[in-house]
Amino acid sequence: MQTITITGGQTLHGTIHPAAAKNSVLPLLAASLLCGGPCCLRGVPALSDVDTSLALLRAVGAPAERRGADLYTRPVTPGSLCGEIPPPLAGAMRSSVFYLAPLLCRAGMVRLPLPGGCRLGPRPVDIHLAGLAAMGARVELEGEAATLRRFGPLQAVDFTLRLPSVGATMTLLMAACCAMGTTVLRGAACEPEVCDLADFLCACGASITGAGTPVLVIQGRRPLGGALHTPLPDRIAAATYAAAVAAAGGRITVQGCAPQYYRAFLDFLECCGVQIETGERDVVIARDPALPLRGGQQLCANAWPAFATDTAPLAAAVLLQADAPSEIYDYLFANRFACAAGFAAMGADCRARGRALYIGGGAALQAARVTAPDLRGGAALAVAALAARGTTLLQDPGHIRRGYADLPGELASLGGLVLAEGNRPVHAAARI
Ligand code: EPU
Repeated sequence: MQTITITGGQTLHGTIHPAAAKNSVLPLLAASLLCGGPCCLRGVPALSDVDTSLALLRAVGAPAERRGADLYTRPVTPGSLCGEIPPPLAGAMRSSVFYLAPLLCRAGMVRLPLPGGCRLGPRPVDIHLAGLAAMGARVELEGEAATLRRFGPLQAVDFTLRLPSVGATMTLLMAACCAMGTTVLRGAACEPEVCDLADFLCACGASITGAGTPVLVIQGRRPLGGALHTPLPDRIAAATYAAAVAAAGGRITVQGCAPQYYRAFLDFLECCGVQIETGERDVVIARDPALPLRGGQQLCANAWPAFATDTAPLAAAVLLQADAPSEIYDYLFANRFACAAGFAAMGADCRARGRALYIGGGAALQAARVTAPDLRGGAALAVAALAARGTTLLQDPGHIRRGYADLPGELASLGGLVLAEGNRPVHAAARI
């Protein structure tokens, strides 16, 4: 088990450049299965979910490889594809669900065992399945696996998602590119990563309008070639570095991730008294650790453009030390705040009640031995530890590396005393 040790009390300084977003790269890799030409995704970090996706692509018969920071996929004929997703790969990440539509379209069938990922509460796939069924797929559920088959091409539909699921919007966008006729998706998710998938598919030859709005219109069965694509920068990683400097103090520049991608989080930090200067693609975040953070915040996490659910634990980590109590409510996931136990172990007055998190504020955080309960909760515990007195041991059973190639190294590069795996230094404090 990897352990990250974090000695609090150091301010952070320097410049950091978020890599490509996990939540863009993973659906883009799945979408490459639809392409009749080679694809290249630029600047992709070495996340364990990316490794799992490359293994999944190989397992279904689609060669994909990493060359330096870039990922390359090659076109495959339907006959060489297999629709059986191996259970260990499906169970290793939520993003195995992105293979439903491409394998159904290209291989004619797909069998998806229960997708894994963070345990944030129930994460059904009913909208994915309902949309694909409306397009003509035959869906069989057996235990925790779904098997989908098609007999002839999928048909275009006018389909309303019962809630704006990011994953289901992406599934149906991919399926609609292969369906006969013009599909209209209503109630679609508007997250930037949905726009990135639409941009990639359009670069390959698809016709998609309305990305970033709740109504998407897709003309199906246009031939898709390949594309060279630079995925979006990771707005959640950008928010993580911003949260780290808010908690620990200092001054950093987050480069190459436009402020509009995490505006709600930057606005929240400003309300807490953190100084924010925004440029077109860069943000400077500064906080004097001698000055208190303002609490009294009421945050509601919801679908884009609201406060992002993935940033809710990070906001909590900042508010632990604030001068008044705050509350965060997450409308999307029932168990977003499993990190509350770790915060409490560090001495914070912090209680999760269902979807709500109460944060008493005023905590003099103390180092503790804590465990990352999930990806963003683990990152939030690392942020809190940067502000705690003493050396925190953060046990990470593989969660953080699913979404950050090297969070300990990145925080160390900003001057944090952060070590990974048995106290081995990760980085010299290399500031740009
Ligand atoms: N939902 C359903 N039925 C469905 C699909 C979703 O009820 O068929 C519900 C979910 O249970 C949840 C809500 O809808 O309560 C929102 O889920 P959504 O489908 O939008 O999320 P997702 O596609 O499973 C992606 C990201 C998450 C991020 C959410 C919300 C990926 C791989 N994951 O999940 O990211 O929190 O959108 O923005 O893209 C992470 O990066 O750590 C992470 C969890």
